[in-house]
Amino acid sequence: MITYRIATIPGDGIGKEVVPAGQQVLEALAKASKSFAFEFENFDWGGDYYRKHGVMMPADGLDAIRGKDAILFGSAGDPDIPDHITLWGLRLKICQGFDQYANVRPTRILPGIDAPLKRCKPEDLNWVIVRENSEGEYSGVGGRVHQGHPIEAATDVSILTRAGVERIMRFAFRLAQSRPRKLLTVITKSNAQRHAMVMWDEIAVEISKEFPDVKWDKELVDASTARMINRPATLDTIVATNLHADILSDLAAALAGSLGIAPTGNIDPERRFPSMFEPIHGSAFDIMGKGLANPVGTFWSVVMLLEHLGEFDAATRVMQAVEAVTADTSLHTRDLGGTATTAQVTAAVCALLEKSAVPAANAA
Ligand code: IPM
Ligand code: MG
Repeated sequence: MITYRIATIPGDGIGKEVVPAGQQVLEALAKASKSFAFEFENFDWGGDYYRKHGVMMPADGLDAIRGKDAILFGSAGDPDIPDHITLWGLRLKICQGFDQYANVRPTRILPGIDAPLKRCKPEDLNWVIVRENSEGEYSGVGGRVHQGHPIEAATDVSILTRAGVERIMRFAFRLAQSRPRKLLTVITKSNAQRHAMVMWDEIAVEISKEFPDVKWDKELVDASTARMINRPATLDTIVATNLHADILSDLAAALAGSLGIAPTGNIDPERRFPSMFEPIHGSAFDIMGKGLANPVGTFWSVVMLLEHLGEFDAATRVMQAVEAVTADTSLHTRDLGGTATTAQVTAAVCALLEKSAVPAANAA
């Protein structure tokens, strides 16, 4: 029996509702399993912690979670604290501190979801966006001078390193290779950004030689938005810089029917540090505390967490339970046009997991 140590960090807003729901699903799985268990430790970092202590997480916070097998994260964002403080003080501190350089964002139209592209069959939209998660536009390099004066100036410098681009390209090619279509699209903007993006393109060509069985193409980021809408089936695995992928993944999630169902993994592929899994949606303060949050984004993130731990059977079972629940429109939350609550959706998924745990030989 393996016991996985999981850190839960609900953070702010509806993170406090969806992370406990995700934990409940993991507990339901473990209850029915003879091969694994979970040991959870919860961390109350985020906006409330900031109000008490002046920081989003303690200075030695990374050490408290360094030994965990994975992190389940909710969201960071607070109406009373500037966004760049909540982001840099918690989520980016963990992503960058643990060098989780590959951000993986699968997008599919799940059963029962009414997606906006009416000409597109659900099977036409099956993408994984790989977001460079350690540098680029999120390097944090820059500054302000002459603050408050008419000559004030400010910079945000995007930095790409050869090592950083090589490792994300290699990760993306490998992921593309593992998927049935073996198809990768490298997003760029090297027509306008003539230094770092040109290096990005050159490195894509170099790394592609290691993966002769992967078919790949290059697309400008602006053109890729139109392609996602007009020719979704021509895309499969997509790799892009931190900011480009940030924008494209919101578009992808909207095209799949709701931001409330989209998951993310912040992965350290070398497994030096724990990886972190979270729903894409933010803290959604407008609906917090009402039990209306869609927990599906967190459940799908739990699927990614289980895959990362190597628990593929369990991951498949959770994904099947999630798909059974989305297929039933009476279990749709408000973001999907329904009236179901977080608790109802969670109970339905847990009930299905308990049922699916019955060994086939004993099943009625
Ligand atoms: C995301 C989010 C974050 C980001 C926000 C909350 C800063 O939009 O995970 O895509 O831009 O990285
Ligand atoms: Mg985003």
